[in-house]
Amino acid sequence: MGDTTPLDDASIDSYRDRFARHLSQTVPGRKEFVVARAHGCTLTAADGRDYLDMTSGIAVANVGHTHPDVVAAITEQAGRYAHVNVYGRFVIPEQVEMVERITSVTAPGLDVAYLTSSGAESTEGALKLARKYTGRPKFVAFERSYHGRTLGALSVSWREEWRRPFEPLLPEVEFVPFGDLDAAAAAIDERTAAVIVEPIQGEGGIRVPDDDFLPGLRALADRSGALLIVDEVQGGMGRSGKWFSHQHWDVVPDIITMAKAVGGGLPLGAIVSTSEIFDTFVDPPLSHLTTMGGNPMSCAAGIAAFDVMVRDGLVEASARRGEHLRARMSEVQAEYPERIVDVRGRGLWCAFEVAGDGNAVAGALQERGVLVGSVLNSAGTVRVTPPLVVTEAEIDRFAATLREVIAAGIGISAGGVA
Ligand SMILES: Cc1ncc(COP(=O)(O)O)c(C=O)c1O
Repeated sequence: MGDTTPLDDASIDSYRDRFARHLSQTVPGRKEFVVARAHGCTLTAADGRDYLDMTSGIAVANVGHTHPDVVAAITEQAGRYAHVNVYGRFVIPEQVEMVERITSVTAPGLDVAYLTSSGAESTEGALKLARKYTGRPKFVAFERSYHGRTLGALSVSWREEWRRPFEPLLPEVEFVPFGDLDAAAAAIDERTAAVIVEPIQGEGGIRVPDDDFLPGLRALADRSGALLIVDEVQGGMGRSGKWFSHQHWDVVPDIITMAKAVGGGLPLGAIVSTSEIFDTFVDPPLSHLTTMGGNPMSCAAGIAAFDVMVRDGLVEASARRGEHLRARMSEVQAEYPERIVDVRGRGLWCAFEVAGDGNAVAGALQERGVLVGSVLNSAGTVRVTPPLVVTEAEIDRFAATLREVIAAGIGISAGGVA
């Protein structure tokens, strides 16, 4: 586990200063702490303080931090080879093993993958694929959606203040309210290449739509000849209590995008679709390309993480422990209904909504040794997404700390929802 001696204050301050000076900052303000190590659901700061991690590094550490099987796989792979070639020339056995695992838990027919390094990159590839396959220009996306920060992904991500400074973006993107099938029906037409949707919205506030929404979108896409892209970057790999969040409904998409937890903590993503749709990337050859996508080290880590998920039943555990987590949060809500106004989620993809400032509540929890987070597109929402290996005792500890913070009224505005 390496040196576990806490750093002295001068060394910590030095790292802070050098970080602020040399790393481009897109978020203002002082960083919370200097990281020393992480294991399971515990993150340890350089001053020696332990934190209960109820974020999983935003839905990445689904098998927990530094899982021994993942560490062993990375170490073994590092000793054989890391990077050897740009995608497409040699056969990389780790890519085969990784993709076979992923496509063993997708619907029949969705059995081909293009490997990437990140969520935004998966979105980019999926948009290109949809355009090329359909020959159509337009995309339909949803209010509060988030699909990444690169130019194409940004074009289909909702929040206008983050889009406007970078315009012109992709033309012909229409946003409709999440969950509103009538609005979707009006937007999806014969110019639409694809509808892109997070089946459960992540950065929009962990919002679960009505049961008719995803099947309705499938029908609307079929009616107009558009493709249905489901973004499983945040909701995939067991987070929602199913392998992929769209599997809560009886719907087969045309394209699935994923990343985050896929690489077991290393950068890895995938675009999964049918061989027929992917064939369009061969004509002309090299229609899509990446140097690092499907990196063998990332695949080795991803294979190990996937096998841990299966062996330890972590998808089912996510569903079960998610119930426990929501029950505990609902108890606090029942005591303070004017302070916590909603508890929601599926599996261990959970959130609570405060009548006030979610960031202040998250900050107070952190002072007490528990890490949670805000989301990008919903101000009062606090995200609670622990590793899928979280224990009931750890969930109970989180709930007790939450009760303390809510009882003290921290971050709650007297006037109600901020
Ligand atoms: C649903 C969804 N799609 C795409 C992305 C972008 O992923 P990345 O940050 O790896 O580019 C995110 C990131 O949070 C996400 O939540």
